[in-house]
Amino acid sequence: MKILIVSCSLHPESRSRRLAGELESTWRAADSAEISTLDLRDLELPACDGTSAYGHPDTVKLQETFADADAVVLAVPIYNYDVNAAAKNAIELAGRQLTGKVAGFLCSAGGERSYMSVMAVANSLMLDFRTIILPRFVYAGKGDISDSGELNPDIRERITQFGKEFFDLAQALHSA
Ligand SMILES: Cc1cc2nc3c(=O)[nH]c(=O)nc-3n(C[C@H](O)[C@H](O)[C@H](O)COP(=O)(O)O)c2cc1C
Repeated sequence: MKILIVSCSLHPESRSRRLAGELESTWRAADSAEISTLDLRDLELPACDGTSAYGHPDTVKLQETFADADAVVLAVPIYNYDVNAAAKNAIELAGRQLTGKVAGFLCSAGGERSYMSVMAVANSLMLDFRTIILPRFVYAGKGDISDSGELNPDIRERITQFGKEFFDLAQALHSA
């Protein structure tokens, strides 16, 4: 089974990228699935215009990367009570390649009040593409990750729990 972790922040010292890194290490230590990662900073994606952007070479790379995965974790920053525009744009460009797959969210926010911010995009994935959303996500506020990128024990524990539940759901769907 192939699991893709997508880091959607464009910030050089992203905290959601730290969450993604921790999840990746957890899974690599367990050695139970083929894990790959994609950092959206490594692609020069066009803004989705609903037409010619779909033919852009980096859009095609993104679509191929999503298509190759059995399940996808999106590590996202919360901007304006939603996922950031880069994550939304990637879904506009390649969400179709998540059809019928398991997806989950790791999010980093500035405060504690944006807890349900991934729900709009989660709903759209479910309704547009029948994506199966893991009904547990990791939400890290500013106090959960130090300036040097250290995760507090509670967030580490949540990532471990997320990793186990995501893996079990993806595996069940993969073998069905
Ligand atoms: C444009 C913008 C909008 C933001 N909106 C929110 C918000 O609605 N709720 C919140 O809790 N934090 C908000 N934040 C803070 C970010 O979620 C926080 O800095 C987070 O760490 C970003 O993720 P990253 O470090 O992975 O880039 C916002 C930050 C920016 C730059």
